[in-house]
Amino acid sequence: MRETASPTVRVIVPATTANLGPGFDTLGMALDLYNHVELTETGEGFVVDVEGEGAASIPRNESNIVLRVVRQVYELAGRKPAGLRLRLRNEIPVARGLGSSAAALVGGAVAANELCGNCLSDQEILEIVTSFEGHPDNVAPALFGGVVVSAMIAEGDRTEVVSRKIPPPYGMRAIVAIPDFPLATKRARNALPAVVPFKDAVFNVSRTSMVILAFIHNDWDLLAKVMEDRLHQPYREPLIPGMGDVFSAAREAGALAAVLSGAGPTLIAFARENTAEVAQAMEETFARHGVSCVTKELKPCAVGAKVI
Ligand code: HSE
Repeated sequence: MRETASPTVRVIVPATTANLGPGFDTLGMALDLYNHVELTETGEGFVVDVEGEGAASIPRNESNIVLRVVRQVYELAGRKPAGLRLRLRNEIPVARGLGSSAAALVGGAVAANELCGNCLSDQEILEIVTSFEGHPDNVAPALFGGVVVSAMIAEGDRTEVVSRKIPPPYGMRAIVAIPDFPLATKRARNALPAVVPFKDAVFNVSRTSMVILAFIHNDWDLLAKVMEDRLHQPYREPLIPGMGDVFSAAREAGALAAVLSGAGPTLIAFARENTAEVAQAMEETFARHGVSCVTKELKPCAVGAKVI
């Protein structure tokens, strides 16, 4: 008798850098570094395999968040799988500010939706995954690619996530300096104040609006002027030794701007030239502050999660 193959779906999802300086919890960009999620319907049991980044720390049991989002998608689709095998092959470093959890969750949700006959829309996937993450700035670009502007709009019981995509900047490179220590987003958010000065809020409203315009118009002189923040970076600086000096070194080496990637600890510089010099300056400056890091030159990526 011929054996029927178990249905399997594979999804690749890009890394993301959230905030883009002033756009706290609002802006994000997809980058060409990927997590791979494979989901198979099986006869019984729920199995999680993890390879690559986070293999030593990511739980394999029912508490695995990707498995939880997969099961939620099945439930919403009105299906009950007898068993599931989830394989995560991760290239995105965990707890470093490059959207590894958003990528894994988006991958799981998209894979489950595909196996359930795509009964959920992208908008529903966006909202489900955002409810796991708490904010949409990594989730939206992981799902859609490009640079994405998002807002959460609460209406009664439902929180609508509104997001709009800008094509990724042409010819721009993102140089990331990834420290060898993790920083939990929760800890980095706990460092933020409950109240900020009004003038700092105004500072960020103006810079965020200008960053969006700079991306829409590929206006790099403007980007270099306005990619600044007063809402989160100053409060997080004590958690990342050398942060301010690494920003200055990256700019002196030719970067247009340098900011915290998401909640950190990764620092990200945007440059159109001298990228090797920028990477070297970031690495050396971190080293002077006793932080060892890996640098990578990444490209903004136009496409989000993809079933392959
Ligand atoms: N906007 C979030 C933060 C991104 O900065 O805390 C990290 O998940």
